[in-house]
Amino acid sequence: MNRIVRREEMAGGRMVLNEIEAPKIARVAQPGQFVMLRANESGERVPMTISDINPGKGTITIIFSVAGWSTALFKTLQVGDSYENVVGPLGRPTEVEAAGTAICVGGGTGVAVLYPIAKKLKNEGSRVISIIGARNEELIILREEMEAVSDELLVCTDTGTTERNALVTDLLAEVLERETPDVVVAIGPVPMMKRVSEITKPLGIKTTVSLNPIMIDGTGMCGSCRVEVDGQMRLACVEGPEFDGHKVNFDLLMERLHSYRDEEMQALEVHGITEIHQCKMEEEARKKEREMVLE
Ligand SMILES: Cc1cc2nc3c(=O)[nH]c(=O)nc-3n(C[C@H](O)[C@H](O)[C@H](O)COP(=O)(O)OP(=O)(O)OC[C@H]3O[C@@H](n4cnc5c(N)ncnc54)[C@H](O)[C@@H]3O)c2cc1C
Ligand code: FES
Repeated sequence: MNRIVRREEMAGGRMVLNEIEAPKIARVAQPGQFVMLRANESGERVPMTISDINPGKGTITIIFSVAGWSTALFKTLQVGDSYENVVGPLGRPTEVEAAGTAICVGGGTGVAVLYPIAKKLKNEGSRVISIIGARNEELIILREEMEAVSDELLVCTDTGTTERNALVTDLLAEVLERETPDVVVAIGPVPMMKRVSEITKPLGIKTTVSLNPIMIDGTGMCGSCRVEVDGQMRLACVEGPEFDGHKVNFDLLMERLHSYRDEEMQALEVHGITEIHQCKMEEEARKKEREMVLE
């Protein structure tokens, strides 16, 4: 059992931070790795990135958005409650190395996955320019934390009430007019990572993305996390989750992520959950998919 020692609601309750006792994991975990958690004995195993590590205290931190049934169950856990089990660290640590200038691009919950990588880059001496965005101001997470590990932080939203009204990819294009970074790290919804990779490819800028396919065991046994990279099938749980964005088949990833959409919607209906956040670029991509089918 792994006890929750700190819990914070973020983004108006749509996202939750849990700091969890997991001393063995905290001793060896590195940025870029993830854990698989179960809320109770009958719960699903859910992959979550380790957003922060405190080896001294023996804790790890996860930040999750309420995306469906399991994460809604996670949200009900309070300080003092325990996860049934937390397995990890899983996946390969980030291979993003200190570079002269690094641009870190994060969308929505992806910022939680991006933060430990931006922090590592900054600690290793890189000049870090971060661009983070969300649908509206309330959904922007880890703003202060990202500011602390960035030389420059740009924030945008789809509504533009108090921040720039733009997509992170618009701001990236602007920054690339004045900067020639050594590396771009993009983490967020699949259409966002796809667009970032399309922008950087013709410019020959090394681009790393972190993929989030459906994972079941997280240890390379079930094959559910297959992704196509450079025409080859790769297992994201053991060979990733980071890959070269210029080589990823994002369309196939999107298709596979939506394979269980009907079952997921049914689970939400059964449990009366109505408020699920969806990225604007993802909505647009799905609209385009529907239009193509109609044509
Ligand atoms: C390596 C990795 C790291 C991740 N890190 C984070 C994180 O730090 N914060 C965060 O909010 N989310 C993270 N996710 C996504 C998170 O695992 C899913 O949102 C969660 O599993 C949804 O479960 P659900 O039952 O609440 O929703 P469901 O209704 O079951 O699914 C909602 C959506 O979540 C995705 N999903 C569902 N089951 C899985 C699964 N077993 N594995 C992967 N994706 C799934 C699918 O896209 C699905 O359409 C990560 C995923 C991976 C693979
Ligand atoms: S999650 Fe089963 S092989 Fe990767």
